[in-house]
Amino acid sequence: MKFKIKSICCIGAGYVGGPTMSVIADRCPDIKVNVVDINLERINAWNSKNLEDLPIYEPGLKEIVSRCRGRNLYFSTDLENNIKNADMIFISVNTPTKTKGVGAGMASDLKWVEASARQVATYSSNHTIVVEKSTLPVRTAEVIKKILFSVESNSKADRKSFEVLSNPEFLAEGTAINDLEKPDRVLIGGESKEAMDALTRIYLNWVPKNKILHTNIWSSELAKLTANAFLAQRISSINSIAAICEATGAEVKEVSRAIGTDNRIGSKFLNSGPGFGGSCFKKDILNLVYLSKYFGLEEVSVFWESVVKLNNWHQHRISKLIVTSLFGTVTGKKICILGFAFKADTNDTRESSAINICKDLLDEGAILFINDPKVNSDQIAKDLGLLETDILNLDEGNWYFAENMDIGFDNADAVVILTEWDEYSKINWKEVSKKMRKPGWVFDSRSIISDKSLNGSELNLWRIGGGSKIKNY
Ligand code: UDX
Ligand code: UDX
Repeated sequence: MKFKIKSICCIGAGYVGGPTMSVIADRCPDIKVNVVDINLERINAWNSKNLEDLPIYEPGLKEIVSRCRGRNLYFSTDLENNIKNADMIFISVNTPTKTKGVGAGMASDLKWVEASARQVATYSSNHTIVVEKSTLPVRTAEVIKKILFSVESNSKADRKSFEVLSNPEFLAEGTAINDLEKPDRVLIGGESKEAMDALTRIYLNWVPKNKILHTNIWSSELAKLTANAFLAQRISSINSIAAICEATGAEVKEVSRAIGTDNRIGSKFLNSGPGFGGSCFKKDILNLVYLSKYFGLEEVSVFWESVVKLNNWHQHRISKLIVTSLFGTVTGKKICILGFAFKADTNDTRESSAINICKDLLDEGAILFINDPKVNSDQIAKDLGLLETDILNLDEGNWYFAENMDIGFDNADAVVILTEWDEYSKINWKEVSKKMRKPGWVFDSRSIISDKSLNGSELNLWRIGGGSKIKNY
């Protein structure tokens, strides 16, 4: 008998849960999709009248929310009723790296996943398919199952029963809607064919059948960690080559282009930058490191840990070379930071390289004017662990939120590009140069400035991996 899904509940209205459920609601008008979260403020933001106030910025998201909200897409804090009425429940809560106890600094903290599983166990009724959407360490499904199956056997009177599936999300922030609407693949791991088919039928509403892969549950969990580890590894690889380019006079962009034409390597994900950020890469690699150590695979753990170590080294390398270029000291010097998000087209700053680079510069006594088109000053203060200072009281080691980047340029010794926002690639450097103190520097960690755009300015340029084109006055 086909198990027809009429009502979905998603626990966690975050970067993954919110957009994913919006697209499911959009593509499956017959299914009622309820997104629940313990955070009332976040839910209120999802329900805000003004679609500019949604808690997450993703191109295309507000259009979908405006089409579906109140039709078959709902956001609320009512976990109990929405769990009770759901045929399928997605767990999409956050799984940060543990900060204390066993596995601290490496293993994921599963307390929210466990709490969600317990809520499902308590409130659900009838047969429920539980889908792991959060990225989880391998064999987490077992934990969820144990919690759910314990109530299954205890409360036969309620006829509660469960199936657990793994359905990791591969969306990248900034392109979430496109990634969800046209995924490279959808991965469904599980043991019950009936449950896997039920989830497959949902995706078949818009995803071609040959893109929906079925695996066992552990392979699915491990595939997600592996995909992120491979992607992050490519970035550490190209960033290590960028350092060699700078030392030898080669151009990392040219090297990327040359190797990217090899079909086996492929051209994507070869842009050298200030180091990878985002909520997933570091956390997932550290999970892999922990897993390898746990199973006694020391060499494997050292291999993957080196990807994260290279990334940390690379971030500090950038702050150091800024200091070195400015005559070995930035104390009391004004530096304009362009971009705080971990990449363009998102307001997310989790693990952003900008955090480490700005902290280093502040420690060195710089005065930072920080601009980002989507990140607000409260978030920056939280990330830096330092409140913004009033513009009239700015002193060494302080920062100010430059809502308009122009005030950041006035009398600055350097401009540092850390996020590849489109508007930063269109800056008129000739005009900016007039405002800056000389010798002035532009540090382009994203390689978005063209050679031509500096013509006629009096600025020195450092570009990531740009060994041959350092322009020095
Ligand atoms: C996702 C994945 O779920 C995570 O595993 C992956 O590694 C990163 O991406 P994300 O959606 O980015 O997490 O997290 P976040 O934006 O923090 O959203 C999680 C939401 O879950 C939060 O709004 C939080 O309030 C909510 N939550 C957490 C609950 O509703 N219940 C809980 O018990 C815990
Ligand atoms: C990543 C994965 O791509 C996605 O599949 C998974 O579901 C979640 O983690 P995300 O973190 O949103 O997505 O962003 P991604 O585009 O992968 O970028 C991660 C980091 O790598 C960013 O800091 C980005 O600037 C950096 N990056 C990416 C580079 O430095 N160079 C590149 O060529 C690509």
